[in-house]
Amino acid sequence: MRVIALSNQKGGTGKTTSAINIAYALSRKGYQILLIDLDPQASLTASLGINPEKTIYQLLKREISLEESVITKNKVAVIPADINLAAADIELSGVAGREFMLRESLDDTLAYDFVLLDCPPSMGLLTINALTAAREVFITVQTEFLALQGMSKLLETIDMVRERLNRELSLNGIIATRYDKRRVLNREVIENLYAYFGTKLFNTFIRENISLAEAPSFGQDIFSYRPNSTGAADYLMLGQEIIERGFANEDR
Ligand SMILES: Nc1ncnc2c1ncn2[C@@H]1O[C@H](COP(=O)(O)OP(=O)(O)OP(=O)(O)O)[C@@H](O)[C@H]1O
Ligand SMILES: [Mg+2]
Repeated sequence: MRVIALSNQKGGTGKTTSAINIAYALSRKGYQILLIDLDPQASLTASLGINPEKTIYQLLKREISLEESVITKNKVAVIPADINLAAADIELSGVAGREFMLRESLDDTLAYDFVLLDCPPSMGLLTINALTAAREVFITVQTEFLALQGMSKLLETIDMVRERLNRELSLNGIIATRYDKRRVLNREVIENLYAYFGTKLFNTFIRENISLAEAPSFGQDIFSYRPNSTGAADYLMLGQEIIERGFANEDR
């Protein structure tokens, strides 16, 4: 089982869009997927048209079991969130082992090939829980102005988690999003990413594609909404790369 956190404390870099569409790309290739919404904004939950009764918040608080928290949507298992999760940061902060709540909740998830964690745009306790539960972290980067702003803080946090909480954690992928090859700035950001991260940068860049932005308003992933879009093609290619890349066994 591969547990992957999609993270960047910067807002709007494509974490949620990528979590959903990577999940459905891998599902179409026959893998069993668990998708977890860890953002109190609950964008992932809303983007899939889920109106949840049970959420990750209750699971983290041990009020329900993992099976009870899961909703299956088009063959993908989803643990949804709602705004109550905003309280988790504070409520759980006094609990001993607060960084391990998610990791412990996932202890019986052996039935899945991939678990994808959609992190909120912050470095609070929820993101720390995701990084502690994951074996791999993928960073989504929008290929725009200030793309790398805040990156050193994020890398520091990943290093801190690796040193103190989760020795296994590996930065195993950089996903470039909203790429438009006609824009010089977009190409420059890619060059910078490659210079800094080398082969950790996935070869597949997710192109700017209106269908990716529209699909959530229909509660659909890109393959249900527009299977012939460039967005569907890009996430399918990225899914293949993720499979081929496998676990990283070296440090960042
Ligand atoms: N490749 C793309 N082409 C066009 N629009 C995109 C693309 N990727 C994401 N978007 C749009 O950009 C916005 C931000 O994307 P998304 O919600 O996935 O980012 P996020 O990192 O999860 O944001 P947050 O930090 O708020 O959780 C959304 O409106 C989404 O539909
Ligand atoms: Mg999001």
